[in-house]
Amino acid sequence: MKVYQGEDYEEVSRIVADLIEEEMKKKPDCVLGLATGSTPIGTYEELIRRYDAGELDFSQVQTVNLDEYCGLDPENDQSYRYFMNQHLFCHINIAMENTHIPDGLETDEEKACGDYERCLDLVGAPDIQILGLGLNGHIGFNEPANQFSQETNCVDLTESTITANARFFASMDEVPKKAYTMGIGSIMKAKKIILIVTGEKKSDILNAAFHGEVTPHVPASILQQHPDVILVGDKEALAGHFRKDVA
Ligand code: GLP
Repeated sequence: MKVYQGEDYEEVSRIVADLIEEEMKKKPDCVLGLATGSTPIGTYEELIRRYDAGELDFSQVQTVNLDEYCGLDPENDQSYRYFMNQHLFCHINIAMENTHIPDGLETDEEKACGDYERCLDLVGAPDIQILGLGLNGHIGFNEPANQFSQETNCVDLTESTITANARFFASMDEVPKKAYTMGIGSIMKAKKIILIVTGEKKSDILNAAFHGEVTPHVPASILQQHPDVILVGDKEALAGHFRKDVA
């Protein structure tokens, strides 16, 4: 694992954008695995800025997103499809048909998961997978469990995640209780994984994920077993636990 520390959120976002830019220059038709949540927003803003400056070309890029809430329409402003369109896709020259996100409106769970798994197979393993970190150590929407999930699955969100995500909804009742998520096994197929973590409140779980035992009770701990992981964090998240690892 490599660790890069940014002075602040802006620098963290620039570091991640640099890594993505490097990949896109090397492989213009690369597959980018993308994440939602507040953490990667700065990275997406930086990518848009570089696209506007003529430095990046997304015309051949394909993207796969980690997850989507069950039951939310793509037009719903809390759906992850809407999030990705607003925060990235509508501002760059990517072909919408090259952007892939689980179908939150598919009520047949088996079909939704099977369809997305086939889509992932077709697109191929991400060259880079961006990940954020949930407060309980979840990645994508893979919540703490007794075993690591393999393929795309439908999860019951935990109270901790529902509460954390409630800030984006008008009321607690509106927060979806289920989501479709790429499995841990699918995430681990990515050639390179970039975990972005900022803020003091993620410091302890981040430390547990990388310095504790590998356990499905801390889903992100599986990343210890991936051959090419880059952790990009700010001082608050890294908080001394990673001082000796910082590149
Ligand atoms: C959600 C997403 C995750 C994300 C997490 C953390 O649960 N499914 O992909 O990493 O939130 O969000 P934030 O970056 O806002 O802390």
